[in-house]
Amino acid sequence: MPGIRGPSDYSQEPSRDPCLKINAKEPFNAEPPRSALVQSYVTPVHLFYKRNHGPIPIIDHIDNYSVSVTGLIDNPTKLFIKDIKSLPKYNVTATLQCAGNRRTAMSKVRNVRGVGWDVSAIGNAVWGGAKLADVLELLGVPKLTGSTRLGGRHVEFVSVDRCKEENGGPYKASIPLNQATNPEADVLLAYEMNGEILNRDHGYPLRLVVPGVIGARSVKWLDSINVIAEECQGFFMQKDYKMFPPSVNWDNIDWSSRRPQMDFPVQSAICSLEDVQMVKPGKVSIKGYAVSGGGRGIERVDISMDGGKSWVEASRTQEPEKDYISEHSSSDKWAWVLFEATIDVSQSTTEVIAKAVDSAANVQPENVESVWNLRGVLNTSWHRVLLRLGHSNL
Ligand code: MTE
Repeated sequence: MPGIRGPSDYSQEPSRDPCLKINAKEPFNAEPPRSALVQSYVTPVHLFYKRNHGPIPIIDHIDNYSVSVTGLIDNPTKLFIKDIKSLPKYNVTATLQCAGNRRTAMSKVRNVRGVGWDVSAIGNAVWGGAKLADVLELLGVPKLTGSTRLGGRHVEFVSVDRCKEENGGPYKASIPLNQATNPEADVLLAYEMNGEILNRDHGYPLRLVVPGVIGARSVKWLDSINVIAEECQGFFMQKDYKMFPPSVNWDNIDWSSRRPQMDFPVQSAICSLEDVQMVKPGKVSIKGYAVSGGGRGIERVDISMDGGKSWVEASRTQEPEKDYISEHSSSDKWAWVLFEATIDVSQSTTEVIAKAVDSAANVQPENVESVWNLRGVLNTSWHRVLLRLGHSNL
């Protein structure tokens, strides 16, 4: 293995912030308290959610580390970190969201399989690295290519972590070649997160970042990149991270009937209040995040206190002191917006709801029941918080 290896046990895991809520110890999966998410537009690295399917890989010596680029291309090669760093560096602010974000709420409708996430399996980071389109061009695959001379149409990314779902084999996923070679898609081979060298949990020394797409496709700890004819046949592309209708159960599921999920749908969550929150009657500030996949901006975030009969619009920001305008060149198209509204809580208020609308006028669905699926992915239903009137300081 060229400088990187996946251990078979959990004895060499990195240390993690004690404030993270641990959803699974081995493999380590954790999210920050929801209130931490709205404290800054860019999520600090130590508070960024962690989603791992196996023990964290180890680099013996960074100078020995290389990633091989092979498959249906004319010039297969090995790239060292110095080769990747010699390409122009881009900083892309992009929100990474696990498809299982908000799964716990979905599991309250009916049982689902998967790690129980609250609303914080999401974070917004500034990823620094080379564009995949530049890397592929260096190897003779021009920009905006849909297929190579040898018939390659997808790009597969393979790690070294040992995942039980892959029978001890590595995590892998693919994206279409036309996305990989499109510089506007901003797909990165990232070596930095928020201006720091990537840490082990988040993919040191090199990870893929596919903006606007569910986190499962942003493969960490890259070992090889393969240009292939068909999409990757790995477990996480073919037997997981697909969206099924509510009627499908474990007896009638046909994994081949659905495509791997790529873009994530429009999503929002209130982070300044817990699921059941004690508040004093009077003015209460509501804060949260909203984001959509595919580079679509957030057109609106609506807040309701009467079950969706009437709505008020929340304000949206990305960077402080800067107005957010959806689809504008001054906005970060791959990143979330933080929203805020002040509501007047009266004796009759029992619930606060947030719903977001993206720039294509896609709206979050009203009920979690309508999007329920057996793996508990993509719960993007209206986010609801119950209020209990009392003497809290909020
Ligand atoms: N890459 C590897 N090699 N192994 C993994 O377990 N998990 C994926 C993705 N890339 C995973 C991976 C999933 S499901 C998600 S949501 C994101 O990484 C999480 O990235 P993070 O831990 O940096 O937040």
